[in-house]
Amino acid sequence: MKNILITGGAGFIGSHVVRLFVNNYPEYKIVNLDKLTYAGNLANLKDIENKANYEFVKGDIVDCDFILRLFGKHHFDGVIHLAAESHVDRSISNPTEFVFTNVIGTVNLLNAAKNIWKDKPEGKRFYHISTDEVYGSLGNGGMFTEETAYDPHSPYSASKASSDHFVRAYHDTFGLPTVISNCSNNYGSYQFPEKLIPLFINNIKNKKPLPVYGKGENVRDWLWVVDHARAIDLIFHKGEVGETYNIGGFNEWINIDLIRLICCKMDEKLGRSKGDSEKLITFVKDRAGHDLRYAIDATKLKNELGWEPSLQFEEGIELTIDWYLENTEWLENVTSGDYKNYYKKQYNQRS
Ligand code: NAD
Ligand code: DAU
Repeated sequence: MKNILITGGAGFIGSHVVRLFVNNYPEYKIVNLDKLTYAGNLANLKDIENKANYEFVKGDIVDCDFILRLFGKHHFDGVIHLAAESHVDRSISNPTEFVFTNVIGTVNLLNAAKNIWKDKPEGKRFYHISTDEVYGSLGNGGMFTEETAYDPHSPYSASKASSDHFVRAYHDTFGLPTVISNCSNNYGSYQFPEKLIPLFINNIKNKKPLPVYGKGENVRDWLWVVDHARAIDLIFHKGEVGETYNIGGFNEWINIDLIRLICCKMDEKLGRSKGDSEKLITFVKDRAGHDLRYAIDATKLKNELGWEPSLQFEEGIELTIDWYLENTEWLENVTSGDYKNYYKKQYNQRS
């Protein structure tokens, strides 16, 4: 029996990780700690919420007394830390929130793990989930490896870089058994429609303008979220303490090409004339400090732990579009209320 804490398990990637662990490890007790911010949604976990090895706890990782009490109660053997403020545009409008959750929240969890494991760190593991954005921006060539120097540009990536540094510092200074992974852009079901792919699917469905930042020439490296969850499972169990692993799909897309592909597939699926959805493309004011290109070299993960993406992008994007078209209730619930205010504020300033 192992007690595992997963933070941010009601979010996009976290819900896929919780589902995989609850289903694959009935001998583990999985505690999902989530504050349920605008991005956290218990509807993401409906299919596993009644499983005997699963417990949901609502709470804030910034509240250090609460975190200490939670660790005291459950005596976790492992932590998989995903809770974060995750949207770059929100970090530009409100950077401070990112410092609280991503930096202070992470340090609170590190302190609690250090406290509880100080006498017996063997077999324990603190796994921090991070992003390729900490490495900065690439030009036309090259890829991020685990040795690439950190060079974050947005308040989001600066806060994630800071949290990565704290995790390494707790390993080097206190011997905390940590591991870190840095992943590229994820896509798939249950992603909050503030991020490019679900936002554009929703707008195409509703025949709303598609706000492409700048000239649409930025490049992102897309990975199916379930393959990220599989990598997290592998690294949690088999990764070396103190190591970092890059995770990516070797799947680079220029934004405008990806957007045209989604438009084309949605025309087919919605029975619209070819080219209809592309007419919704609207070039808007660029994101401040917009990183040009991300590309992950995931060779270390492949060579050392044998991980590879299971799904080709063509198949993954089909599944993803179908999921958002089928799950109308989920999509309508998350795009009502506050989302409308967010959208107005975010996109009126760009026109
Ligand atoms: P998300 O925004 O969908 O989910 C974040 C979750 O954290 C939400 O459920 C939210 O309620 C919770 N949360 C936020 N603040 C909290 C707090 N103070 N206390 C407790 N819970 C809190 O994010 P995501 O896209 O699923 O990303 C998860 C992690 O993976 C993040 O650490 C992110 O930096 C990292 N990451 C994301 C991507 C990506 O493409 N989405 C890629 C690489 C790495
Ligand atoms: O690379 C990993 C990161 O990927 C994660 O760490 C972040 O949490 C995640 O949000 C994502 O960051 P990006 O900024 O790359 O993702 P986003 O979906 O916001 O944007 C993808 C690209 O699309 C980026 O170049 C900006 C552009 N874009 C985005 C939105 C929301 C648009 O052109 N228009 C939009 O409306």
